[in-house]
Amino acid sequence: MNKAIIRTEGLYKSYPQASGRLEILKNISINISKGESVCIVGSSGAGKSTLLHLIGALDRPTSGKIFFNEKILQDYSDDELASLRNEKMGFVFQFHHLLAEFTALENVMIPAQIKGLSQVEAKEKAATLLNQIGMSHRLTHYPSELSGGECQRVAIARALVNNPEVLFADEPTGNLDTHNGRIIEDLFFNLRQKYGLTLIVVTHNTQFSTRFQRVIRLKDGISV
Ligand SMILES: Nc1ncnc2c1ncn2[C@@H]1O[C@H](COP(=O)(O)OP(=O)(O)O)[C@@H](O)[C@H]1O
Ligand SMILES: [Mg+2]
Repeated sequence: MNKAIIRTEGLYKSYPQASGRLEILKNISINISKGESVCIVGSSGAGKSTLLHLIGALDRPTSGKIFFNEKILQDYSDDELASLRNEKMGFVFQFHHLLAEFTALENVMIPAQIKGLSQVEAKEKAATLLNQIGMSHRLTHYPSELSGGECQRVAIARALVNNPEVLFADEPTGNLDTHNGRIIEDLFFNLRQKYGLTLIVVTHNTQFSTRFQRVIRLKDGISV
């Protein structure tokens, strides 16, 4: 088996409430190998997004350990976590979260420029990626001038512009019709193969979930 890219030990997440603590994740220990495709499923409120945000270094656990390439994330400062996300991780959400005042090309360039690429280099990388995912005819369009499926393709290009090791997605087809959902699903698997990505996706779509090598099922904050 390949080395773990993401590993958790006894992960807990809870929120303080007037009536006590609200336990969201309870004792989650998972091990995701480099290059693996993993799907996280479970009913609404099961804790899927919470788990994805923890292993994607967007949030910190209440207790327990998260390792990325065997380095423990609790030792990272917030700035170090931001760099880790920028350089090693890509994120796609249910809503595309593109910036309305920037074109498709500019939206994809932003993470590359944050990483330190020059404008010329970032533009070239962004254009190449958008071309690969069939969006070269929409480079100068603003998000309001794109369809939902096209916006999601741009969001995927943006997630990949810094050549991440892991691509995370939280219900990436949840807002799309069946046809456009399928295009996005195929894109994930094509890109995974092309770039050797580790793919970690939350989905409600049963047909989509069958395409992954492994399914992690959450129920009431427990991995079952
Ligand atoms: N910041 C928060 N404060 C309190 N409760 C929260 C917070 N974020 C999420 N929750 C609760 O945690 C549970 C799991 O949420 P979530 O991980 O978003 O579920 P899923 O993605 O599986 O639908 C839900 O009951 C939700 O209301
Ligand atoms: Mg969710």
